[in-house]
Amino acid sequence: MVHNLESIIRRMPKVELHLHIEGTLEPEMMFAMATRNGVKLPYHSVDEVRAAYQFSDLQSFLDIYYAGAAVLQKEQDFYDLTRAYLQKMQDENVRHVEIFFDPQTHTGRGVEFDVVVNGIHRALEEARREWGISSRLILSFLRHLSAESAMNTLHQALLFKNWITTVGLDSSEDGHPPEKFLEVFNAARKEGFITVAHAGEEGPPDYIWQALNHLQVSRIDHGVRAMEDSALLEHLGKFQIPLTVCPLSNVKLRVFNDLRNHNLGTLLDKGLCVTINSDDPAYFGGYITENFLQTQSALGLNLKQIVRLSQNAVQATFLDPIEKTALLDEVNCFFDPYISGSVH
Ligand code: ADE
Ligand code: ZN
Repeated sequence: MVHNLESIIRRMPKVELHLHIEGTLEPEMMFAMATRNGVKLPYHSVDEVRAAYQFSDLQSFLDIYYAGAAVLQKEQDFYDLTRAYLQKMQDENVRHVEIFFDPQTHTGRGVEFDVVVNGIHRALEEARREWGISSRLILSFLRHLSAESAMNTLHQALLFKNWITTVGLDSSEDGHPPEKFLEVFNAARKEGFITVAHAGEEGPPDYIWQALNHLQVSRIDHGVRAMEDSALLEHLGKFQIPLTVCPLSNVKLRVFNDLRNHNLGTLLDKGLCVTINSDDPAYFGGYITENFLQTQSALGLNLKQIVRLSQNAVQATFLDPIEKTALLDEVNCFFDPYISGSVH
C-alpha cells in the first residue's frame, strides 16, 4: 500500500525532547529585541545573520549562539521567545515538549535567574491552558564553565523545583567530560531532579558511559557516537535508554557530512530507543516536522519506522505514567488506520 508519508508526518501528534529555547531565536526576533533593548548586534540585516549561520563544528556554532542570546534581557523577552516557539509547535501538532534553558548564558551577563524562568514558565503554562500542550523544563549546565558555577546555578534552581523537573549538561563537549560534574549531579538527584546529559555528539563513546555511570542520566542527548562501541549499543538497547537525536543539527555541525549518511536508521533498527528532535531550529534550518520530513526522505524511513520513532518519543518523556499512557493512546489511534490498511 502507498502511504503519503509526508502528509502523515505533518499531521501526526508529535513530541519534542531536545530543544534549547535560546536556539529558537529567529533572526527577525533577534533584531526586534536588539532594537527594543538597545543591544548592538554585529549584523546589519536579517539576511546577514542567516548568512553567518555556516558552522564548521559545535564550537563555531556556540560562539554565534551565545552572542545572539545577549538580546534576551527582560522577562517579556523570554516569554515572547517561548510563546513564539509554542505557537509554531501548535501549528505542527506537537502535543508535548521538554525544553532546555541555559541559565548561565543569562546570569553571566547580569540577567537574574528568576527573570529567565518566570518568562519561560508563563508561556509554557499558557500553552498548556490554551492548546493542551504539556511540557517539562530542563535546566542545562554549561559544561565549559566550572563545576562550582554549575553548583551555584543548582542552588538558584531550588526555589523553582515545582517548575524545573530535570537538569542537563550542554555546550562544548570536547575536553569537558561528564565526570567533571559528578558532585553537581549527585546533589541534583538528591534534590529530586531527573538527570540528562549531552554526550556522544562530538565527544567519544566514553562520555556516554560516564553520563550513564557517573551522572546516572535517564536519557542521552544526541548519543550518535554510541555506534563506535558495540558494548554500549547493547547496553542502550537492553535498558532502552532514550537517545534524543537531532538530525539537522548533526549535519549543520558536521557530525555527519550528509543526512543520507546519518546513523539514525541503523540505531533504530538495532532496537535502540531513538527519537527525532530539533536542538536549535532557528540555527539549523528546521523545527521538528522538518527534521522528520528531511530524515524520512534522506534515509528512506518507512511508516513502521516513523511509528516506532513516535512511540519511542512518548516512552522517553518524563510525563507521569497516566499522562504517558494517554499520549501513547493518542499516537497509536492516529497511526491505527494506516497500519491496519483502511486508509490509503
Ligand atoms: N547548546 C545548544 N545546542 C547545543 C548542542 N547541539 N550541543 C551542545 N550544546 C548545545
Ligand atoms: Zn542540544
